[in-house]
Order: sequence, then C-alpha cells, then structure tokens
Amino acid sequence: MGIVPEISINMSERDKRKIERLRKLIRHHETLYYVQDQPAISDREYDLLMRELQDLEEKFPESVTPDSPTQRVGGKVAKRFTAVAHKTPMLSLDNAFSVDELKEFHQRVVKGLENVSSEDIEYFVELKFDGLAVTLTYENGVFIQGATRGNGKEGEDITANLRTIKSIPLNISTDKEKYGTLEVRGEVFMRRESFRELNKSREADDEAPFANPRNAAAGSLRLLDSSITAKRKLDIFVYGMGSMEPMPFKSHDEIQTALKNLGFKLNTNRHVCGSIEEVLPYIEKWQMEKDTLGYDVDGLVIKVNSLEYQKKLGATSKFPRWAVAYKYEAEKAETEVEDIICQVGRTGAITPVAILKPVYVSGSTVSRATLHNEDEIRKKDIRIGDRVLIEKAGEIIPRVVEVIKSKAKRGTPFKMPVKCPDCQSTLLRPEEEAILRCVNYDCPAQFKERLFHFASRNAMDIDHFGPAIIEQLVDKGWVKNFSDLYKLDPQNVARLERMAEKSAQNLIEAIEKSKSAGLARLLHALGIRHVGQRAAMILARHFHSMTKLQNAKQEDLEFVMEIGGTVAESLAVYFKQISNQEEIKRLAECGVEVEITGESVGTALSGKQFVLTGSLESLTRDEAKEKIAALGGRVTSTVSKKTDYVVVGTDPGSKVEKAKKLGIEVVTEKKLKQMLGE
Ligand code: IVH
Repeated sequence: MGIVPEISINMSERDKRKIERLRKLIRHHETLYYVQDQPAISDREYDLLMRELQDLEEKFPESVTPDSPTQRVGGKVAKRFTAVAHKTPMLSLDNAFSVDELKEFHQRVVKGLENVSSEDIEYFVELKFDGLAVTLTYENGVFIQGATRGNGKEGEDITANLRTIKSIPLNISTDKEKYGTLEVRGEVFMRRESFRELNKSREADDEAPFANPRNAAAGSLRLLDSSITAKRKLDIFVYGMGSMEPMPFKSHDEIQTALKNLGFKLNTNRHVCGSIEEVLPYIEKWQMEKDTLGYDVDGLVIKVNSLEYQKKLGATSKFPRWAVAYKYEAEKAETEVEDIICQVGRTGAITPVAILKPVYVSGSTVSRATLHNEDEIRKKDIRIGDRVLIEKAGEIIPRVVEVIKSKAKRGTPFKMPVKCPDCQSTLLRPEEEAILRCVNYDCPAQFKERLFHFASRNAMDIDHFGPAIIEQLVDKGWVKNFSDLYKLDPQNVARLERMAEKSAQNLIEAIEKSKSAGLARLLHALGIRHVGQRAAMILARHFHSMTKLQNAKQEDLEFVMEIGGTVAESLAVYFKQISNQEEIKRLAECGVEVEITGESVGTALSGKQFVLTGSLESLTRDEAKEKIAALGGRVTSTVSKKTDYVVVGTDPGSKVEKAKKLGIEVVTEKKLKQMLGE
C-alpha cells in the first residue's frame, strides 16, 4: 500500500471491543432501516459510524471478518458463477388459475391426509413475489453462501451479489449455535420505482431497458461485478427455510416468525386461515390491492400451515403437494390514445403506432403500442382520443385489445398520411404490397433506421449506439453515410446531448471494434434488400471478398447455392449504383474489413448455443438445427448456463422455466426466424 511503510500495530482488547460494538450497532441500524423500515438515526449518523469502523479496520486489517458491515461490496469475480448443489431441493409451485382449481387442490390435500378432517386444515396465505428465488446459507449465524434456484437441485453461486443487498443480514446475531447450518429461502426483487429509475438512466446511456422489474432483478443478480449490483437497489422478502433435522418448528407460521426474529425481512401481508373458505376473500382482496404495493406480485401462495401435514403430503419431483400458487390473470389496463403517429422503417415502410397516456401494466410502463397497419386500425376502429384496453402479449409487447366505446363524441376515423411524415415525399403503395412506403432513399428517417440496423446486434454489433445518438448525429449532418461513423471526432461526440466523456469513449471504441466484424456481418449491415443474415453469410463464404462479389455477374450469383434470382437481382441493382460503390470504397479506406482474411466469416450466430423446446410451426427441428448451424450457432438438448437462447414453440416443456430461472433469453419462433435473417 502507498508510500507509507506498513507498520504493524497491535490491536488492544479495547480496540477489539470497540470494533465489535460498532459492528453490532451498525447491524442494528441496518435492520431498523432496511428490514423494518423504521430508521432511528439519520443517514449522516449512520455514515459516521460506518466511517469509524472502516478507519479501525484499515488500521487493523487482521480484524476484518466477512460478516462485517463494511464487507458488502466486493468487485469483479471470476468469469462466470460456480455451481452450487442445494442441500434441500428448491421446488417450484403448482398453479391454480381459478377458485375451482384452488378447491381441487384442497380436495387433494384432504385426500392425502386421510384421517384428518377438512376443517382441521389451516392454510397460510402469502403474496407471490415476482422476482428471483434465492437460497441463503448461514453457518453458525454467518452468511456464507447465496445461490439462485437454477434447476432446483443445483443453482449458481451469487454470494458476492447477494451480500450487496442491505436487507440480507450478514450475521444473524442471536442463537448462533442453535441452527448450525441454516438455509433461508426468499425472493429477490426490484421495486417498480427503482426499476423505472434504472431504465431511465439506461436509456440515457443508450443501453437497452429491462422489460420488467423481474428481468432487472435477475440481470442485476447475474452481473459479474458486484459493485454494479450494489447500485441496483435490490430487495428481498424471505419466506421459508430448507429442511432441518430435528425440525424445531410446528408450522409455517412459526418458521416465518422465527425468521423475522432473526432479523430477516418478511412481507407483512401474510395470513393464517382456519379453512380453505377463509382463503377466498384474500384472493379477492389482493386482486386489486396487489397493484398498489410498489412491487410486482403475480399471485398468492397458499401453504398447508402444519409442518407435520406438509411432511405427510410430501412432494412430486417438481412441486410440494402442500402448496399451490394462485395466479392472477395477465394484466389489462385502460388508457387513452393521445395520438397516432406513423413511423418510417428502413425500407420506407410506414407503420402506425398509438401513443398512449403512460400506464403501468404487467411490470412496466407502457406508452406506445404498434397498430401494425391501416387494416388493423380500421378493423378495431381506433381513433385519437379513444379510451382503449391494452394488454401485453407474452407480457412484453403491448397491444390494443379493443376500444372502450363510450357515448362521448369520438374523434374522426384515422386516415393514413399521403406524405412521408419526415421528408414529405409522396407515399406510394406498391401494387403487390399492403404497406404504404416512402420511396425517397435519402429520407432522413429511413437513413436513421438503416443506421440503427447497420449497428444492430446481428449486423456490425456496435454497442452504446441507440436511437438518441443516431438522431443527433444525423440531424447535425455529421453522419450522412455509414462510413462517416468511422470518421467521427471523439471530442464532438462527447459534446452530444446525454453524452459524457466516458460514454463517448465507449462508443468510439465500439465503432472501432466493429471494423473487424467480418464480411458476412458487413453485407447484412448494408441493408441490401433481400440480403438477410443467411444470404450474407452464404455470399461471404462463397466470394471471400467484397470486390469479387461486386464483380460477379448475375448468373454467377444465381449459381451460388440458395441464392435465388431475387437476391441476385437486388445485389446487381445495389452494386450498380455509383453512390453504393463509393460508400463501400470509403468503408474499406476507413479500415472496415471487406475481405475474409482468417477463419471467421463473421456470422451473427458464431459461438451461440440454442435449445429448442416445443414444436415449431414453420420448420422442423432438423431444419432449425441446420439453419442455426449454418450461421455458426449450435443446438444442444439441455439448458445450462452456457445456453444463449431457448426457442419456444407450442407446448413447451420445463426448459422454459429453467431458462427463465437461469436468466437465459427465451425467444419465440418468430424471433428465431429474424435471427436467421428470414
Ligand atoms: S414457496 C416449495 N412462497 O414462486 C415451495 N415461493 O413457482 C417453494 N415465490 O421458485 C416456494 N413468492 O421463486 C414461495 N411467498 C412465496 C413466494 C414464492 C414467490 C416464487 C419462488 C418459487 C416460485 C414457484
């Protein structure tokens, strides 16, 4: 450390006692603040106590223990998380979607308990938090390990990240020896407000926003740098324990009370019900009230209270027979159409979009919904000023379900524009198409979209390059062609709105990196009509160089396997244009790779692992496998940490659940086809 020679100072008994006293006091105030929500001292006073402890620990480094309040934030860990086997398996819950199904659950319980009468079964009702299940292991009162649920038998060691959550005690001060090894189960989540704040700042940094608080929590727990997790405002509700021998409690209620007394954070909304009938009013109560909680709750969990009965009922390989999740229906919300705008796509296609009065639904705020095309608007008769019911299809993409027709005077029916909303050129509807198009190739709105496509993940893969930056670069006239990106002045970039020196530097570095994206990616990035990822890859593999491709005759092109007349024609049209030839030359001059030099063709799915589940509609599994492989990807049969995407078809298996638990991206068949460039 530094230039001051390290002097070993002996710690006196007094110092030792002082350190212990400070730790105890800080823990006490952390519990009051983070667990009980009842702070007793000011933030400043807390900071001063912490500072005092930090100073002492710095002076006596040998005194530092992992459960000291100063030890919450670590730094970067290894490249990935290690696997942890759960002592007690982490089971999932069976679902009930109606009161009838809940009663059926009760009948199964009664049957399973044989000689117990229906009236003697108590149920414990609590909220089902929509976050990420974790297990926390305490050894003699000290938090030693935290893990995700994973496949239920084995999860990932995310101890460093969990330590940053202040409502997780690092040391449970009482009854240390009493429990020996204690497994505590709970749900890590992010409050809606923190989620909104996080997304706002991500958008400002041109980072993709999280779709909902659960994804934000899952993503934050799977970061390899715990100092970032520490900034993410995560929280926990603890709801249970792993098994214990001997089990000192008689009921689930007693377990939760004990956890509370040990300093864990429990949700206050939990109820013991004398019978299944007593559960029903809670279903009604929480149906509405769950939306006012400030965090996402997707149902209730109903558990047989007696541990003796729980033991008797046991579990299947997936679910305990003594508990069920009552799931609320996907949320719908009512809002108002403030405007209907028309977006210009990169090929000039015009898409109408409803601008909505912001409304919170299924975990995020919705302020726009695609209306697809003119026919859809006409069919649903959606007009500006209408009250509409919206729903999230697959809980991600919002759609307008229907117009709530009131007696109020409605606006006039929506008409598609005749001129491009951006460049004002007259829109055309090519005869064979149902879509209205702006056919002005120089339309700024189209160029912005082309630039967005150029930089996208499957094309040149330029990070930190979102719509807000593109908008400014094009409007200022700094970027008129793709190649202008490689000539940007870093100092100018740093002066853009919502840009700081660091983010400008990140962007410039990402642009620089994209120079070696490879020929296949570049060909796809150029946005030549009909040249998707797959055609780009085939062309790159065949020709190995942009010049050779440019010089190829149409019949040479058609000779290439899988390249049909449409692609060949489109390429011929593209390369014939002097402006395109010049642009390719400029890109090469800027150092963008236009030849295949080494092994890599630069395919979009290079090294990506896929798992398919359920049946796909438009292609067989073998076809899917072949197509993924052709783009450099691989299809495996089991979901693991190494999986990049799980593709879901109809009737998917448990793999989806597993993927979600591991925080792996789940994609639809439609998305897969997009990735395949189809
Ligand atoms: S008890 C053996 N209680 O729901 C019973 N789970 O679908 C295990 N969850 O993986 C679960 N809130 O992530 C229980 N109050 C609650 C819960 C809860 C949320 C989640 C948990 C679990 C999933 C099961």
